[in-house]
Amino acid sequence: MTASQHDVLIIGSGAAGLTAALALAETKKVLVLAKGGLDGGSTAWAQGGIAAVLDAGDTFDNHIRDTMVAGAGLNRLETVEFVIERAPRSIERLTELGVPFNQDSGDLHLTREGGHSHRRIVHVDDATGWAVQEALLNAANANPNITMLPGRACVDLITGRNEDTYSGSGRVWGAYALNQKTGEVEAYTARATILAAGGTGRVYQFSTAPRGATGDGIAMAWRAGARVSNMEMMQFHPTCLYNLEVKNFLITEAVRGEGGHLLHPETGHRFMADYDSERMELAPRDVVARAIDDQIKRYGLDYVHLDISHQPPEFVKEHFPTIHDKLMGLGIDMTTGPIPVVPAQHYTCGGVLVGLDARTDLPGLWAAGEVTESGLHGANRLASNSLLECFVFGEAAARDIAERWDELKAPPPVREWDESRVTDSDEEVVVKQNWTEIRRFMWNYVGIVRTTKRLERARNRIEMMNKEVEDYYGSFRVTTDLIELRNLLQAAELIVESALRRHESRGLHYTLDYPETDDVARDTVLVP
Ligand code: FAD
Ligand code: SIN
Repeated sequence: MTASQHDVLIIGSGAAGLTAALALAETKKVLVLAKGGLDGGSTAWAQGGIAAVLDAGDTFDNHIRDTMVAGAGLNRLETVEFVIERAPRSIERLTELGVPFNQDSGDLHLTREGGHSHRRIVHVDDATGWAVQEALLNAANANPNITMLPGRACVDLITGRNEDTYSGSGRVWGAYALNQKTGEVEAYTARATILAAGGTGRVYQFSTAPRGATGDGIAMAWRAGARVSNMEMMQFHPTCLYNLEVKNFLITEAVRGEGGHLLHPETGHRFMADYDSERMELAPRDVVARAIDDQIKRYGLDYVHLDISHQPPEFVKEHFPTIHDKLMGLGIDMTTGPIPVVPAQHYTCGGVLVGLDARTDLPGLWAAGEVTESGLHGANRLASNSLLECFVFGEAAARDIAERWDELKAPPPVREWDESRVTDSDEEVVVKQNWTEIRRFMWNYVGIVRTTKRLERARNRIEMMNKEVEDYYGSFRVTTDLIELRNLLQAAELIVESALRRHESRGLHYTLDYPETDDVARDTVLVP
């Protein structure tokens, strides 16, 4: 089968991918591929909202300062300014697309989250992501220049090594993707490829991220030769529901923003006073997550309590209808009592290194959204800055591609996927076991508080598993599970390697062996 050829190929149908698609579709034909369903990424799961300076008493400088404080100085100032100054326009565009943001006396209602010095979170109740995903998908569906193919799990990028007349260059020409229905691997080529494949949360046992967040984009870009940076900066959200049946339901930070208290479940002590008496529950996430982790370990607890029941029941139900309904279904009434919560992995701050034009190291490859490290988040992402990054960098990628269009050559003929590995694996159990093992040791050894010894233990496990997984990958027909396992292992390796290279504690990377913070903030950049 010959490759299917397009103007622009976009891998991922979340906020970053679809923003880029809509901007490009004004002049180009765009193909969007998604693993599983079109709404299967983190975008649809976002709760709290989108940060933007819209209040007369707020300023860009305030938002920039809050972002840099949360990021512990590792952010790149020019990126922070670039994104924050474009936030109001992004909200305007989303409103034009029909996102029904909550209103307050004719203005947008702004809620508050940790690390923000002002109310500046635009939202749709407590299910902002769903509204955004729906509006973007509706617009993309209605656009004749956009084709969306769900059920395509990209396996690897196509580069000069895959050209029929092998050039061996790192120029990216598209991607090989597993058709999840037929089991065939198909080749999709394009003049320009945008990677918007999201984060790698599922490398941890406990994560708020959806099932498909397996670091595919980061792993594919790394294998193709792109640098990745700051992979040790893994964000843990302080308040994931603790429930034996429901494993990854987020309780939005806005609950704390609207007055929720964190309490010791037995004594009722409001323990944030012992860790950050000024900012209390609204300290940045790394501070709150570490405080909860400390309480859990120190007192042998399973969880702590998040309590907003001192607010009027109508207020709670009006602000958090989705969470309220979900909890009621589990027998928890947040209007009358506390919610049991634990920290869980939430966001991948590191990723494929990009500039303000969203270009990666590889010619022909742009990247946007959670898959990237753009310099916005630094050592810790400020709440509700990531959807914003998707909109701003999705547009930036589209703009750069449009500006360079005449330089971008049509893709050459490329080799078909090597179908010599036709054997179906009869050992699916091996894949499942390895997947579980990675997630467990990453949680235990590469979690909220780290030590060099634990990181080295994780590295040893990864080395042992690498051989087994590569043998397996080389011998059997690819499946979604196998693609994801290989990528999870690659992501785990990058996280551990980056963590071992940082000899200080900064933001989300906290190690008992190097508790101090260096005077100068440096990125951890890994070169393939
Ligand atoms: P995603 O939305 O994750 O989309 C990734 C896309 O890539 C999907 O379409 C997926 O199918 C596709 N894909 C992945 N692998 C492959 C592959 N191999 N082949 C083909 N396609 C592939 N941020 C905020 O700013 N505000 C919030 O309130 C907020 N709340 C959150 C709540 C939760 C529970 C979670 C998990 C995250 C939250 N975040 C929030 C973070 C934010 O949602 C994400 O960072 C953002 O949506 C990422 O968007 P994206 O477009 O980069 O990727
Ligand atoms: C939340 O609603 O707490 C998530 C916000 C975010 O991750 O930015």
